[in-house]
Amino acid sequence: MHPDCERILLTEEEIHLKVKELAAQISRDYSDRELLVVGILKGSVIFLADLVRNITVPTRFDFMAVSSYGASSKSSGVVRILKDLNQGIEGRHILIVEDIVDTGLTLSYLVDNLKTRGPVSIKVCTLLDKPSRRMVDVAVHYNGFQIEDHFVVGYGLDYNERYRNLPCIMVLSPNVYKGGKKA
Ligand code: IMP
Repeated sequence: MHPDCERILLTEEEIHLKVKELAAQISRDYSDRELLVVGILKGSVIFLADLVRNITVPTRFDFMAVSSYGASSKSSGVVRILKDLNQGIEGRHILIVEDIVDTGLTLSYLVDNLKTRGPVSIKVCTLLDKPSRRMVDVAVHYNGFQIEDHFVVGYGLDYNERYRNLPCIMVLSPNVYKGGKKA
């Protein structure tokens, strides 16, 4: 286990089983259709890479990068697009892939923004969900794990850009973000 982490929340095996389950469900729901998976950088990259390799319907993928306005680490709900999609989405079936839905503010903005571009459908798939922190109601169609309000890292999730490469999901030790250690 990584020394900055308190405990393992989800093992590699638990994650991989869940990814396969989600991909099977998505493949069933989109049979006979082509999917455009939209990954939200950077946290979703590892999840997306595993997910799309288990989806059996024709699938394209593209990425968006967004950031919240303001200096605070708390979500403000005002989102800036840092990188937009490379293609139009008119007439397409969109599946937004997120690492974690926390307040829901980022996702809510993204869904509203993509809806204006004329897709046939938009659904959301997240690996993790912290329902206790939700500030806006946003529909999540495929949900890997509901977790308590811990700050978690690994499998794509970061704290100050670190820990994304850890293969499992761990609870970050509060000493790390309470000023105990510099990033
Ligand atoms: P929301 O707009 O509050 O739902 O923000 C979601 C984003 O916050 C995620 O895509 C993550 O980048 C980040 N985030 C929220 N909780 C965590 C966490 O526990 N670990 C790492 N990143 C998190």
